[in-house]
Order: sequence, then C-alpha cells, then structure tokens
Amino acid sequence: MQQKEKEILNLIKLKNEEITKLKKELNEIRTLSITEEEREKEKIQREKTFNGLSAKEWAMLSRSVWNDVSSARKEKHISHGATFPQKLAERVIEMYSKENDLVFDPFVGTGTTLFAADKLKRNSIGIELNEEFIDYINQEKNNKQFQIIKGDCLDKIKKICNESIQLTFTSPPYANLLLKVQDDRTNRHKHSKIVEDNNSSAKPYSKDIKDFGNMSLEDYSKNVLKLMKKIYLKTKPGGYNIWVVKDFRDSQNNIPYIDLHSLIANLGEKAGFKYHDLIIWDQNEQRSLILLGYPSVFYVNQNHSYLVVLRK
Ligand SMILES: C[S@@+](CC[C@H](N)C(=O)[O-])C[C@H]1O[C@@H](n2cnc3c(N)ncnc32)[C@H](O)[C@@H]1O
Repeated sequence: MQQKEKEILNLIKLKNEEITKLKKELNEIRTLSITEEEREKEKIQREKTFNGLSAKEWAMLSRSVWNDVSSARKEKHISHGATFPQKLAERVIEMYSKENDLVFDPFVGTGTTLFAADKLKRNSIGIELNEEFIDYINQEKNNKQFQIIKGDCLDKIKKICNESIQLTFTSPPYANLLLKVQDDRTNRHKHSKIVEDNNSSAKPYSKDIKDFGNMSLEDYSKNVLKLMKKIYLKTKPGGYNIWVVKDFRDSQNNIPYIDLHSLIANLGEKAGFKYHDLIIWDQNEQRSLILLGYPSVFYVNQNHSYLVVLRK
C-alpha cells in the first residue's frame, strides 16, 4: 500500500513538473507570436514602470497566493536548514526592483537573495553572522559582483549608504522559537514518523549571542525594531522591505499560536514603514501533513509562510 502511495506521489510530482514546463513553453510561444506593434507597446510600458515590467507581466505577477515558487534544494540548503527557494527570491526581485537597483539581505544565509539578484542584473549586498554559510556562498560566487559582509547586521548595516536600497528581501531567524518547537517535536515524537516525515531540519545557526535565533522573544522584538529603523534609513523613498516569516505554536508553554508575521509588520510600522501588502506562500505541496493535537484538540498544519511587504 505504502509503495503504491509513493508511486502515486511521484507521478503527481512528475505531472506537476510537466505542467510547469508546458506553461513555460506556452508563454514563450505567446511571446514569439506578438506583433511588432505589440512589442513596441510593451517596450514603452517597460520604460515607464519602476520595475521594468510590461502591463501584462505586472498583471501576471499580482497573485496574492503563490504555490509555484519551489526549486530544487542543494546540499548547502539542506545543511543550513532554513533557506528559501531561489525562485521565490527571483519573483520578489522582479516585482519590486529593476536592473542595476540595489537589493539587500541582512540575514543572507547561503546567499539565495544574492544569486537571484545577480541573475536578474541587480546589485546586491548581504550580511551573515555565520562564517560557515559565507563559505557556501564563496564556493559558488566565481566572478559575480555581489558583496558579502561578515558580522552582525545590526552593526554592519552602517557600511551601506543612506537611501540607497530599493529592496530588502530577507527571511529572519525566529527568535529561539524554532528551537523550542524542534525540542518539543523531537521529545514528544521520539520514534515516530512525524519527525522524520516533516523534513524538520531546524537547528541553531550558531551559539553567538548576536544571533537573532538565540534571543528570547522580548529581546528579539527589540532588536528587530532596531534593525527595521536602520533599514528604513538605508532605503530609498518608495523602496520596499519584505520579510518572509511563518507563524508558530509553542506547545511546551501552551501557546497555541504565535502570530509572528503581525509582530514583524507592527515593528516595521513602528520604524516608519507603511504596511503595504501581504502575500501567502503556500507550501502544502512540499510538506507532509502531521497529526496535531489528536484526539482532543484540533490544529491545522501551518504549511504556509507570509511575505510581509513594507514600503518607505
Ligand atoms: C532563515 S536564515 C536565512 C536563509 C537565507 N534566506 C537563505 O536562503 O540561505 C537566517 C540567517 O540569519 C543569520 N543571522 C542570525 N543572526 C544574525 C545577525 N545578527 N546578523 C547577520 N546574520 C544573522 C543566521 O546565521 C542564518 O543564516
């Protein structure tokens, strides 16, 4: 039975990949079949827009729920444990910046934002505390022009010029919440498939006290606010600041829901940004469902993240 299930899941995955490929081909055919007049019209539109998109591209990218941004994970992604897909970074960069703009990631990890920015001809700067992750970036950097700064983003951000950033795109650590959730899961479900099946590879990034992943929620909030204020100063008027976060439960302390995305949005607003938009990144296709609270309390699986879009 399990074998049959695996076969079907594999088949679904292959079919989905096929559909994505066909959609891409269809788009290419449509692009090729547009008339010279339409091409000229699109060129004029691209020159007018702040992000270099035509009206059609603009409309196509304006969905509020995304389920088509996963990309294959390499060894470095698995080893880091909390990277986002390059496709996700590329989509955001295409929407909120244009060629030669400056893109910034204060928690750059394995450099996903930098590689995406380079592919789309944007300049970019990333800060990372953990040397191990910087090594991953350098292994693949070759002659790419982006800049990596080692150290604490709260301090190193001073190296960036005021009002120079068009887009900040980042996924921050989640205070020490992730560790609590991980402990809890491992202790309660020691030998169960719940832990294995959920691909839960969350682990501390470092032992450094400056690591946002080692802070209590209270210290974390204070430091995120400090960072938001500094990002505000460095952002161009009209520029964007987008944080990818997931909401949580802390069942050890009997807290059923921690609304992290609202916390981030509020701290951004306190720092001066406008809460501009909220995008849902649906990850149900990439995650197995786990049994939560059974048989007495019903919880849903939080299989999505939020992109909190702030604007100066
Ligand atoms: C969720 S991960 C980012 C992953 C990244 N988006 C990627 O795709 O690889 C958060 C990163 O923030 C780093 N970090 C934590 N505290 C930091 C700080 N104070 N300054 C700079 N980086 C920090 C961690 O080492 C970790 O790599």
